[in-house]
Amino acid sequence: MSSDGPTIESLAVEDRRFPPPPELAATAIARPELYEEAAADAEAFWLRRATELLDWVTPPAAACDRSRAPFFTWFADGTLNASANCLDRHLAERGDRVAYHWEGEPGDRQTITYRDLHERVCRLAAGLRELGVRRGDRVAIYLGMVPEIVVAMLACARLGAPHTVVFGGFSPESLRDRILDCGCTALITADGGWRAGKEVPLKRNADAALAECPDVRSVVVVRRTGSEIGWVDGRDVWYHELVEGRDADLAPEPVGAEHPLYILYTSGSTGKPKGILHTTGGYLTGVAATHRWVFDAGDDDVYWCAADAGWVTGHSYIVYGPLANGVTSVLYEGAPGTPDRDRWWEICARYGVTILYCAPTAIRTFMKWGTEYPARHDLSSLRLLGSVGEPINPEAWMWYRTHIGGGRCPVMDTWWQTETGHILISPLPGISTLKPGSASRPLPGIAADVVDAAGESVPLGQGGFLVIREPWPGMLRTLYGDDERYVETYWSQHPGMYLAGDGARRDADGDFWLLGRIDDVMNVSGHRLSTIEVESALVDHPAVAEAAVVGRADETTGQAIAAFVTLKGDVTGDEALIQELRGHVATKIGAIARPKSIVLTDDLPKTRSGKIMRRLLRDISENRQLGDVTTLANEDVVSEIAGLASAARASGDEDKAV
Ligand code: WT7
Repeated sequence: MSSDGPTIESLAVEDRRFPPPPELAATAIARPELYEEAAADAEAFWLRRATELLDWVTPPAAACDRSRAPFFTWFADGTLNASANCLDRHLAERGDRVAYHWEGEPGDRQTITYRDLHERVCRLAAGLRELGVRRGDRVAIYLGMVPEIVVAMLACARLGAPHTVVFGGFSPESLRDRILDCGCTALITADGGWRAGKEVPLKRNADAALAECPDVRSVVVVRRTGSEIGWVDGRDVWYHELVEGRDADLAPEPVGAEHPLYILYTSGSTGKPKGILHTTGGYLTGVAATHRWVFDAGDDDVYWCAADAGWVTGHSYIVYGPLANGVTSVLYEGAPGTPDRDRWWEICARYGVTILYCAPTAIRTFMKWGTEYPARHDLSSLRLLGSVGEPINPEAWMWYRTHIGGGRCPVMDTWWQTETGHILISPLPGISTLKPGSASRPLPGIAADVVDAAGESVPLGQGGFLVIREPWPGMLRTLYGDDERYVETYWSQHPGMYLAGDGARRDADGDFWLLGRIDDVMNVSGHRLSTIEVESALVDHPAVAEAAVVGRADETTGQAIAAFVTLKGDVTGDEALIQELRGHVATKIGAIARPKSIVLTDDLPKTRSGKIMRRLLRDISENRQLGDVTTLANEDVVSEIAGLASAARASGDEDKAV
């Protein structure tokens, strides 16, 4: 899709239909009446969900305050604590219920009940308090998928200290930028983490990052791999020593519903990542409600959201949603292909997973690996599947349903964003008739629409901008420290409407089909990256004069990063330099940002005003007929680049998708 606006693509007609299985229609938690109740009065509807699904210290009397729009607040007169809602209130009746079946990549396991989790969270919260962490202080978390990542988030929430989780695959520089942007005073990390049989050197990365973060006074270090690590006396403390002998029943700090729960960084269309700010009461209401409705999880379920806790999917649907609902989850540390390509299916069979939630990129990887891996295991416990992160192509949808879901499990294609906090568009398991590739309808209480450039709803069948017309409880409140960018990014193109940044189309039944991003944001394996971030990392290399980056369609990862680079005059490019540049980007941002292909070229296609023609580069990368080049200042460069690009595509290496 071009940055000029959504193209009015007419998707291939998809006429397969899957009505809900009758037994699910009869028993599902989400009833059709929810839509009617929400349509009658959305604010009253959400207020009822807030008081019904959460425990409040002071219940809220009012839902949404619109007086400072677009700085909306929800349930602002209520007080509560997020960790108490995820833990304490379950203890009396379901303290011995398993919160997480955790499995480390090397094969070690832990069964963690709600009571265990509560105790661990209290001890760490007490330890953090001893280190001086107080309500409102920001704490960075840089961990792999160990139980401590959940404990750390909830311990922060218990103290009213907003956390910012930085995905363990990010580089020292990315970690540093995030810590500095939100002014963290403490960091929780580990010696290392396991991923695809290799150790991720978390502490070494953290030390490098912290060299430029003077405000971080304390570093709590989980022992995971047992590797040798650097140590700064007076700053670093072992997690196991910190929690030793601490209060196993530390009282949660009640906070206002609008108290910040966390900041999570995501890429926008400029180089600087955006600190998405989520608050407590509305967010928790949104994740608890949507988790119940969409995943239908009850007491007999074993639910597995196979995302990383470092992304919003993990925050909302590994930690806060399922725990608020008292559900049993699976938590897995490592890669899907370690030690063999059936690892996920082995886990599903071992714990009797009933609900699986993952990303299309994972599904496409499994498709590529072949059906023999899931076929090795008994997956008959599965009853519901979910997908998130990018449009799921009908082929992958059908494969997922057939080979993982045994042809009987409905697939929930859930659309949402880091900013939205929770799922906004999704089928409901006992209600929706599914169409492979469609995210179905806005959930009850969500006012999604598709509009044209003037902000008018477009007719059914036509493409346009996806907007949300009314505030919702889990929405971001601002971009941390940058109210202006918040207004500019989300609320200025169509005043009064939230601009999601995606193109969408509704079909004749009113079902939504997502068409991809409308800005210069790429989606690689369900992770958002801006073209400019990668360009900046390339230009940072001493050999590079100029760089242009586009996302090109990729069978496995959704989009792959294709870079076009011009070198400084005195540098000669070769394959070794290309590899060095790819590595440089990985070092600057993280391995997920490593370009799949780099084309070295003498010039980049530019308009006469000097603007790089990304649309053209995208066409070249995807081997399409080139569009209009008459506005180009340097037309002859195009054919040269096109030739080079096809060679680069052919040699592009196979990066791991998930
Ligand atoms: C972008 C948000 C939400 C958690 C993971 C990604 C794309 C997300 C879908 C879907 C089509 C989807 C959109 C969105 N996206 N889910 N079901 N169908 N596209 O969070 O990194 O904030 O990215 O992911 O383009 O804007 P994120």
